Formats: sequence, structure tokens, C-alpha cells
Amino acid sequence: MKKVVIFASGSGSNAENLIQLHHNKFYTVEAIFCNNEFAGVIERANRLKIPLKLFKRNEWNEVITSIKELNPDLIILAGFLWKIPSDFISSFNRIINIHPSLLPKFGGKGMYGINVHQAVIDNQEKESGITIHLVNEHYDEGEVLFQAAIKIAKGETPESLANKIHELEYQYFPEIILKEIENEK
Ligand code: GRF
Repeated sequence: MKKVVIFASGSGSNAENLIQLHHNKFYTVEAIFCNNEFAGVIERANRLKIPLKLFKRNEWNEVITSIKELNPDLIILAGFLWKIPSDFISSFNRIINIHPSLLPKFGGKGMYGINVHQAVIDNQEKESGITIHLVNEHYDEGEVLFQAAIKIAKGETPESLANKIHELEYQYFPEIILKEIENEK
């Protein structure tokens, strides 16, 4: 069975979806790494019986060591908010992120969560969507693997848009992860 690890900083609803749909079927989620002691993903990990590893900014070396021991086929960022250090990126083969906009639009520093959807609405965009991409040393700039778009409705709010985007994420992220993992040598 293939192995993955997930990084998450917040609610962790995507992490839970990836676990509920595929854990112990197509891959095992060996651990969730989290940088925020107040994150909702902690409760989810406990409930789903996935080891949760909380770490601080000065502990990236320990994180690298522990992931090398786990030896995952894929590393998944599902709402992880820190920039990934270059040592980490060069240590592992493929790292995948999901971003709640149609990159390159509305990416980069500060563009996370509701800020993204607020910016989309403020800019009077006609559509928004999700981007699943490989991670490199620049925020939100790695190779794009997949995008899906939706139209912005009349009277759309950042919150209503966030809900629609989450639905897209739940639909497509697990699918793309499976494709990636099957291609993994
Ligand atoms: C998602 O919208 C994802 O695109 C972004 O962060 C959000 C995480 O949501 N990177 P959740 O923690 O999975 O609920």
C-alpha cells in the first residue's frame, strides 16, 4: 500500500476528506504534521486515529528526519500556511498543494483562506476555482497539475464562494492525489 503524509494548519476538512475516502484503501496516511496547536485538524486526527505531529518553526530538521523515516510516496499540503523551506523541498520527491483560486491569479503571500475569496470578489472576477500544483520554493508557483473553475454568482460573498470552492476541493483533490500516487515510481 502506498503511503502519504499530510501537512495542515487549520480546520483540516480536506485532510479529513482524503482520509475518509482513501485511507487504508489506496494509501495509508502515516501522519499529519501541523504547525498550529489550535487547529481543528488536531481533533480530526485524534478521531480518525491518525498520528498528529505538532511542530514549531525551528523544528524543520526534525520534521525532515521523521518524514524520511516514514518514507512516504507523496507529501500533501492541505491548507498548510507556512512557506516550505528549500531543504525540505530538496529532500523529497513530490509535494502537492491545493490552492483556492485559479493560479497564477490570487496566489502568493497573504493569499490564503477568506482573503483569497475577498480579493476575487473585490476584483469583480467572473470565475474562480481551485489549483492543485507541485510545490517549489516560491509560494504558489510550482507546476500546475489540475484546475477546476466555477462562475461567480450575482451577490456572491467571500463566504458563499468559500463554500463552493471547498466543494470543488472535496470533489477533485482525492482524485488527483490518486492519479499522482499511481504515477509515483
Ligand atoms: C483550502 O481552501 C485549501 O485550498 C487552502 O486552505 C484551505 C484549507 O481548508 N490551501 P481546510 O483546512 O482543508 O478546511
